[in-house]
Amino acid sequence: MPTSVPTPRPTPTSGPTTWDPAHLPDQTGRTHVVTGATAGIGYFAAEQLAAAGAHVVLASRSATKLATAVAAIEREVPGARLDTVVIDLASLASVAGAAT
Ligand SMILES: NC(=O)c1ccc[n+]([C@@H]2O[C@H](COP(=O)([O-])OP(=O)(O)OC[C@H]3O[C@@H](n4cnc5c(N)ncnc54)[C@H](OP(=O)(O)O)[C@@H]3O)[C@@H](O)[C@H]2O)c1
Repeated sequence: MPTSVPTPRPTPTSGPTTWDPAHLPDQTGRTHVVTGATAGIGYFAAEQLAAAGAHVVLASRSATKLATAVAAIEREVPGARLDTVVIDLASLASVAGAAT
Protein backbone atom coordinates (compact mmCIF):
# COMPACT_ATOMS: atom_id res chain seq x y z
CA MET A 1 0.00 0.00 0.00
CA PRO A 2 1.39 3.45 -0.86
CA THR A 3 1.81 5.63 2.21
CA SER A 4 2.09 9.03 0.50
CA VAL A 5 -0.10 11.01 -1.85
CA PRO A 6 1.41 11.29 -5.34
CA THR A 7 2.68 14.74 -6.25
CA PRO A 8 0.32 16.32 -8.82
CA ARG A 9 1.83 17.16 -12.18
CA PRO A 10 2.28 20.88 -12.82
CA THR A 11 -0.35 22.45 -15.05
CA PRO A 12 1.19 23.38 -18.42
CA THR A 13 0.89 27.05 -19.27
CA SER A 14 1.48 26.87 -23.01
CA GLY A 15 1.12 24.51 -25.92
CA PRO A 16 -1.73 22.31 -27.08
CA THR A 17 -2.37 20.84 -23.59
CA THR A 18 -3.92 24.16 -22.49
CA TRP A 19 -6.99 23.44 -24.64
CA ASP A 20 -10.13 24.05 -22.60
CA PRO A 21 -13.47 23.33 -24.29
CA ALA A 22 -15.25 25.63 -21.84
CA HIS A 23 -13.03 28.56 -22.85
CA LEU A 24 -12.53 28.33 -26.59
CA PRO A 25 -10.23 30.73 -28.41
CA ASP A 26 -12.00 33.67 -30.03
CA GLN A 27 -13.88 32.37 -33.09
CA THR A 28 -14.89 35.76 -34.47
CA GLY A 29 -14.75 35.73 -38.27
CA ARG A 30 -14.98 31.96 -38.52
CA THR A 31 -17.90 29.85 -39.69
CA HIS A 32 -18.44 26.34 -38.34
CA VAL A 33 -20.95 23.83 -39.67
CA VAL A 34 -22.02 21.52 -36.85
CA THR A 35 -23.76 18.28 -37.76
CA GLY A 36 -26.00 16.68 -35.16
CA ALA A 37 -26.49 20.15 -33.70
CA THR A 38 -29.99 19.52 -32.35
CA ALA A 39 -28.91 17.21 -29.53
CA GLY A 40 -26.10 15.90 -27.40
CA ILE A 41 -22.50 16.67 -28.26
CA GLY A 42 -23.40 18.58 -31.42
CA TYR A 43 -25.79 20.91 -29.62
CA PHE A 44 -23.25 21.85 -26.96
CA ALA A 45 -20.47 22.22 -29.53
CA ALA A 46 -22.69 24.65 -31.43
CA GLU A 47 -23.48 26.57 -28.26
CA GLN A 48 -19.83 26.82 -27.19
CA LEU A 49 -18.71 27.92 -30.65
CA ALA A 50 -21.43 30.57 -30.77
CA ALA A 51 -20.39 31.81 -27.33
CA ALA A 52 -16.83 32.12 -28.64
CA GLY A 53 -18.04 34.43 -31.43
CA ALA A 54 -18.31 32.02 -34.34
CA HIS A 55 -20.95 32.08 -37.04
CA VAL A 56 -22.48 28.64 -36.54
CA VAL A 57 -24.48 26.69 -39.11
CA LEU A 58 -26.54 24.07 -37.32
CA ALA A 59 -27.30 20.98 -39.41
CA SER A 60 -29.92 18.29 -38.86
CA ARG A 61 -32.73 16.41 -40.62
CA SER A 62 -35.46 18.36 -38.84
CA ALA A 63 -36.33 22.02 -39.36
CA THR A 64 -38.45 21.84 -36.20
CA LYS A 65 -35.57 20.55 -34.06
CA LEU A 66 -33.26 23.13 -35.61
CA ALA A 67 -35.64 25.93 -34.65
CA THR A 68 -35.75 24.61 -31.08
CA ALA A 69 -31.95 24.39 -30.90
CA VAL A 70 -31.54 27.90 -32.31
CA ALA A 71 -33.98 29.29 -29.75
CA ALA A 72 -32.14 27.52 -26.93
CA ILE A 73 -28.74 28.82 -28.04
CA GLU A 74 -30.11 32.34 -28.47
CA ARG A 75 -31.33 32.21 -24.87
CA GLU A 76 -27.88 31.17 -23.65
CA VAL A 77 -25.87 33.32 -26.06
CA PRO A 78 -27.63 36.61 -26.81
CA GLY A 79 -26.53 37.92 -30.20
CA ALA A 80 -25.39 34.49 -31.39
CA ARG A 81 -24.77 34.36 -35.15
CA LEU A 82 -26.68 31.27 -36.26
CA ASP A 83 -27.96 29.73 -39.46
CA THR A 84 -29.46 26.34 -40.15
CA VAL A 85 -29.39 23.76 -42.90
CA VAL A 86 -31.61 20.71 -43.22
CA ILE A 87 -29.52 17.70 -44.18
CA ASP A 88 -29.76 13.92 -43.98
CA LEU A 89 -26.18 12.68 -43.77
CA ALA A 90 -27.35 9.21 -44.81
CA SER A 91 -28.30 10.59 -48.23
CA LEU A 92 -25.66 11.80 -50.68
CA ALA A 93 -28.37 13.66 -52.58
CA SER A 94 -29.31 15.51 -49.39
CA VAL A 95 -25.65 16.30 -48.67
CA ALA A 96 -25.19 17.68 -52.19
CA GLY A 97 -28.35 19.75 -51.87
CA ALA A 98 -27.27 21.16 -48.53
CA ALA A 99 -23.81 22.00 -49.86
CA THR A 100 -25.38 23.91 -52.74
N1 LIG B 1 -22.75 10.55 -26.16
C1 LIG B 1 -21.56 9.97 -25.97
O1 LIG B 1 -21.09 9.76 -24.84
C2 LIG B 1 -20.72 9.57 -27.17
C3 LIG B 1 -19.47 8.99 -26.95
C4 LIG B 1 -18.68 8.67 -28.05
C5 LIG B 1 -19.14 8.90 -29.33
N2 LIG B 1 -20.37 9.42 -29.51
C6 LIG B 1 -20.81 9.64 -30.88
O2 LIG B 1 -20.97 11.04 -31.06
C7 LIG B 1 -22.07 11.26 -31.96
C8 LIG B 1 -23.08 12.16 -31.27
O3 LIG B 1 -23.59 11.51 -30.13
P1 LIG B 1 -24.63 12.21 -29.15
O4 LIG B 1 -24.85 11.28 -28.02
O5 LIG B 1 -24.20 13.58 -28.89
O6 LIG B 1 -25.96 12.40 -29.97
P2 LIG B 1 -26.77 11.38 -30.90
O7 LIG B 1 -28.08 11.16 -30.27
O8 LIG B 1 -26.02 10.20 -31.33
O9 LIG B 1 -26.89 12.34 -32.16
C9 LIG B 1 -28.05 13.09 -32.33
C10 LIG B 1 -27.82 14.13 -33.40
O10 LIG B 1 -27.46 13.47 -34.63
C11 LIG B 1 -28.27 13.97 -35.65
N3 LIG B 1 -28.43 12.97 -36.69
C12 LIG B 1 -28.68 11.65 -36.52
N4 LIG B 1 -28.80 11.04 -37.73
C13 LIG B 1 -28.61 12.00 -38.67
C14 LIG B 1 -28.61 12.00 -40.10
N5 LIG B 1 -28.85 10.88 -40.82
N6 LIG B 1 -28.37 13.16 -40.74
C15 LIG B 1 -28.13 14.31 -40.04
N7 LIG B 1 -28.12 14.38 -38.69
C16 LIG B 1 -28.36 13.23 -38.01
C17 LIG B 1 -29.57 14.30 -34.95
O11 LIG B 1 -30.23 15.28 -35.70
P3 LIG B 1 -31.80 15.22 -36.11
O12 LIG B 1 -32.45 14.09 -35.38
O13 LIG B 1 -32.33 16.56 -35.70
O14 LIG B 1 -31.74 15.03 -37.60
C18 LIG B 1 -29.09 14.88 -33.64
O15 LIG B 1 -28.78 16.26 -33.77
C19 LIG B 1 -22.65 9.88 -32.32
O16 LIG B 1 -22.07 9.47 -33.56
C20 LIG B 1 -22.16 9.02 -31.18
O17 LIG B 1 -22.03 7.66 -31.60
C21 LIG B 1 -21.17 9.76 -28.47
